[in-house]
Amino acid sequence: MSTLFDIRSRVIVVTGSTGALAGSAARHLCSQGARVAFLGRNRAKLDESISSCLSAHPEAECVGLVADVLDRRSLEDAREAIVTRWGSIHGLVNGAGGNMPGATIPPEKAFADLDFDSFRQVVDLNLHGTVLPTLVFAEELQKAPTASVVNFSSVSAPLAVSRVVGYSAAKAAVENFTRWLAVELASRTTGKVRVNAVLPGFFLGEQNRRLLTNEDGSLTARGESVIRKTPFGRFGAAEELHGTIQFLLSSASRFVTGAIVPVDGGFVAFSGV
Ligand SMILES: NC(=O)c1ccc[n+]([C@@H]2O[C@H](COP(=O)([O-])OP(=O)(O)OC[C@H]3O[C@@H](n4cnc5c(N)ncnc54)[C@H](O)[C@@H]3O)[C@@H](O)[C@H]2O)c1
Repeated sequence: MSTLFDIRSRVIVVTGSTGALAGSAARHLCSQGARVAFLGRNRAKLDESISSCLSAHPEAECVGLVADVLDRRSLEDAREAIVTRWGSIHGLVNGAGGNMPGATIPPEKAFADLDFDSFRQVVDLNLHGTVLPTLVFAEELQKAPTASVVNFSSVSAPLAVSRVVGYSAAKAAVENFTRWLAVELASRTTGKVRVNAVLPGFFLGEQNRRLLTNEDGSLTARGESVIRKTPFGRFGAAEELHGTIQFLLSSASRFVTGAIVPVDGGFVAFSGV
């Protein structure tokens, strides 16, 4: 049997692991035999994530560590705890991120109404919240025989998505950072450390459910336009990211770096016409 996608015993750090997409990915990585450090800000939510992982996969090797992706000290403490526990780090999934209502221009408002503090906060979370964990874990990743970083982009990075001005700017910068660091580490580590990103299309989660669906589950006007622009004609399900994330973390992708991989039912490929 091929070991191409084998991630058994690889130590993988997942930020945002109490959230929908990164949490689901973290549980999947555990199910595949990886040693997974779930990072999140809230101890109670982390405990819940770890116990739901262990009840689905009793053999899973996982630990929940409190860390804020914007707080260097907490990330360094998490790094020390992981190295003490498992000895090395082979993967980092930068899953923390998302939009904030204040950084969005609602239909009745104009660009001039943009709340600049909120814009700054959403850039902080998505861009700095990707760069800072990568910075803190980079040295350990470079010590491993091979290592991989997986970032999260969005359809709003390559395409203009109405309203979400701050989030779009931040995700575009995450894509640029992904390519920049991929090139930097490719030459410095002779290809040992790779940096890529997934680009999820529209997945229903707590952040966007109210924007895309009504209380009765029917689509809002925005939800309808998303589905019209998605050739698959539906939203994504969290587990549909698992394969791409595992591919990017495993040696199946050992010549892949600087790639932004859409997992979007065709959204980015489609002109809309
Ligand atoms: N859901 C989608 O349709 C979609 C589409 C494209 C991209 N994304 C991206 O995927 C990633 C995961 O999104 P999701 O839909 O699962 O959202 P989510 O809100 O369910 O998960 C995000 C997680 O990040 C955590 N977080 C926020 N600020 C943090 C901080 N300062 N430090 C540590 N953790 C922090 C939150 O607590 C939450 O657990 C995000 O980067 C998001 O932008 C989501």
